[in-house]
Amino acid sequence: MSFIEELERRRTFGIISHPDAGKTTLTEKLLLFGGAIQEAGAVKNNKIKKGATSDFMEIERQRGISVATSVLAFIYKDKKINILDTPGHKDFAEDTFRTLTAVDSVIVVIDVAKGVEAQTEKLVAVCRMRKIPIIVFINKMDREGKDAFDLLDEVEQKLGLRVTPLSFPIGMGYDFKGIYNIWEKKLNLFSAENKQTISEGIEFDDVSNPELDTIIGDAAANTLREELELVYSVYPKFNLNEYLKGDLQPVFFGSALNNFGVKELLDCFTEIAPTPQPKMSDTRLVDSKEEKLTGFVFKIHANMDPKHRDRLAFVKIVSGTFKRNAPYLHVRNGKKMKFSSPNAFFAEKKEIVDESFPGDIVGLHDTGNFKIGDTLTEGEILNFKGIPSFSPEHFRYVNNADPMKAKQLYKGLDQLMDEGVAQLFTMEMNGRKLIGTVGALQYEVIQYRLEHEYGAKCTYENLPVHKACWVEATDNKEEFAEFKRVKQRYLAKDKEGKLVFLADSSFTIQMTEQKYPSVKLHTTSEYE
Ligand code: G4P
Repeated sequence: MSFIEELERRRTFGIISHPDAGKTTLTEKLLLFGGAIQEAGAVKNNKIKKGATSDFMEIERQRGISVATSVLAFIYKDKKINILDTPGHKDFAEDTFRTLTAVDSVIVVIDVAKGVEAQTEKLVAVCRMRKIPIIVFINKMDREGKDAFDLLDEVEQKLGLRVTPLSFPIGMGYDFKGIYNIWEKKLNLFSAENKQTISEGIEFDDVSNPELDTIIGDAAANTLREELELVYSVYPKFNLNEYLKGDLQPVFFGSALNNFGVKELLDCFTEIAPTPQPKMSDTRLVDSKEEKLTGFVFKIHANMDPKHRDRLAFVKIVSGTFKRNAPYLHVRNGKKMKFSSPNAFFAEKKEIVDESFPGDIVGLHDTGNFKIGDTLTEGEILNFKGIPSFSPEHFRYVNNADPMKAKQLYKGLDQLMDEGVAQLFTMEMNGRKLIGTVGALQYEVIQYRLEHEYGAKCTYENLPVHKACWVEATDNKEEFAEFKRVKQRYLAKDKEGKLVFLADSSFTIQMTEQKYPSVKLHTTSEYE
């Protein structure tokens, strides 16, 4: 197969949802279609069990086995589908944000009864900012839930999407009879007893055909006709370009648990979802069809076994062919590196591969050379953009609890921050170190890992910070100097040496912006 053919058969995407909406179940069913797993349940390992918020040993256990499930790949209708796993737990939201920099599209799963939930709102906002093409899957149609039209309204309003239903439910919960597949003009009937068989659906071009009444009953047939008429008159028609530009979002209905509506979703997805997309770097736009290799690290996974300290850096290939043992430039270090055992991911396994193509993820063994955001090329000096740090939600001073182990502590902190576990800030006033995280859980993880992997001990001290704001320097030198003098106690540097203002409330941010209008405050580290 030629390079272009390889590239064009790849679809790399992520599934996002609020915990419990059915992401894991859907992933499992998708893998079944690819024949990639023998039995459902294999993906479950990667899930943090509910109610275990403080049980981070569980996370440790799962971190250990989730390397392979970080990327799940399978072949369906000759397409190579790469699913990038995104942690559902909100304390790992930043990990999910970063994974979204490596996907070419996403599927959003929504629970029909719960509707749009908080975590979904946050994640979709990031996708919209990046104009990532989105397909929505409304799950659990076998349960009583919200009215389909109300739900579509909610998706439009809360998520800011412009939707076009490509399937429509016939009843729901106890009365759920199936779906009408608008995309393929087929009727697909639901049977809860028959979870294992996937029906191809019945061709049904024209719902005014009286045969519909015989199949689903007069009442349901009439309701469906009325509802479809409404769908056609209210919602825009599907348009591939608008979907690819992130301006229009197709919606499917189904029940992942019952493997119902999943094939319809996958069939449409493989047809419309984008092939590997070009990516902006600090010097130019890199097209995926370019023959020279480029790629970037979006995730680093530490080996939890202290006897094997190596880490796995996950690289998304943007352009060219990644070849085993070929020399590539690690742009930040300015060093050429060769990789003798790059891993590719398939179903729930990983294996060494000789070649990978744009859209693929390779796992590289790393002894501490990589950090998140690093770029690999064949020699060109460029850095991919779009892996910003977001303001943490929690802030604590970190204190060394064992004076003999200061070196180990700093080395450990340094490496954990490269992995993206949390963000480290250094106070301008006194050089004290501050750790910022998205969730409180990370503090436990850091403490545990410092002790077990680096032999260092630390304690924490809370600091009431609302948001870390990256400060954009201004031409107004006087005002900037005044800002720095007055706010001295609240200024810190991030790991890249960028200036950060630690605001204790949104009111403070507002007041500061009013007082120093030329000083721009940003809640992400990358701003235009
Ligand atoms: P998540 O990864 O998004 O957190 O969700 P997950 O797939 O684990 O699904 C959450 C719960 O919802 C699971 O039940 C799962 O079986 C159920 N579920 C998923 N899809 C459907 C569906 O289409 N219909 C119905 N009725 N339920 C669905 P659980 O009891 O919490 O977990 P488990 O004991 O089944 O593992």
